Amino acid sequence: MLALTGLGKTYTGGVQALSGFTLDARPGEIVAVIGGSGCGKSTLLRLISGLDTPTAGNVNINGETVKQPHPLINLIFQEPRLLPWLSVRDNVGFGLAHLSRAEQASRIHEALCRVNLEAYGDRLPKALSGGQAQRVAIARALVTRPEVLLLDEPFSALDALTRETLQQHLLDIWSETRATMILVTHDIDEAVSLAHRVIVMKPWPGRILDEIVIAQPHQRAGSDFDRVGAQVRSALDRSLSASAPAAHSKTRPQHSLVLETSP
Ligand SMILES: Nc1ncnc2c1ncn2[C@@H]1O[C@H](COP(=O)(O)OP(=O)(O)OP(=O)(O)O)[C@@H](O)[C@H]1O
Ligand SMILES: [Mg+2]
Repeated sequence: MLALTGLGKTYTGGVQALSGFTLDARPGEIVAVIGGSGCGKSTLLRLISGLDTPTAGNVNINGETVKQPHPLINLIFQEPRLLPWLSVRDNVGFGLAHLSRAEQASRIHEALCRVNLEAYGDRLPKALSGGQAQRVAIARALVTRPEVLLLDEPFSALDALTRETLQQHLLDIWSETRATMILVTHDIDEAVSLAHRVIVMKPWPGRILDEIVIAQPHQRAGSDFDRVGAQVRSALDRSLSASAPAAHSKTRPQHSLVLETSP
């Protein structure tokens, strides 16, 4: 169980990127987080992953406070961040040095099979397409069998067709591993078609504006998909107009600051 309580981050220099962010994600739940640029989504994931420390509140997994990168939590970035001089196999196995060679080989094989790249172990990253490279990054994140996968716009740099294939692929992986996933995205359709719940954030400081529960099973089209998509779009519109940094606020009507549905 992943529990975020009153999570806040004020960076050195005073930027309050996140404030009072409270969320419980059930085991196996997929939570999409959507919001305008700069509203604190990546900050949120970095805090959950333990790569950065909160200035308020805490992150808890199975009753344990996360204070540094945690073996049960892995983060996948927008770009694959593979080491160019290592083969696909060695990239995937990079964090497994503490295991026996046999266990490493078996974990790497399992992770590469999950992303359908078992035949690509000997390749170097430069010989992969963008979609394949991102699948290697997903395999690298799966290799430690995490309970929580954090995904920071993982498909946004890919073309539409590859994106859709990998979205479906992520659902297949989820149905095999039942990992809890926190998926940051700018794409409303992606949020609605993958998540069980969509959190819409608002900026300055980043916090939760609205939460929309998605009826299961997932759909990729149809009237329910359109209706929920419209709900998320409307919340996102409110988020984008809800507040502006001080430098911009002179040109905006003051009443736009109170357009919100939840604290
Ligand atoms: N290391 C840092 N030091 C100071 N300010 C930072 C730092 N990292 C992020 N910020 C600021 O914190 C705020 C939130 O940034 P963050 O990267 O979390 O936003 P985001 O929602 O992920 O944006 P995007 O959608 O563009 O990726 C922004 O105002 C950003 O400039
Ligand atoms: Mg970001």
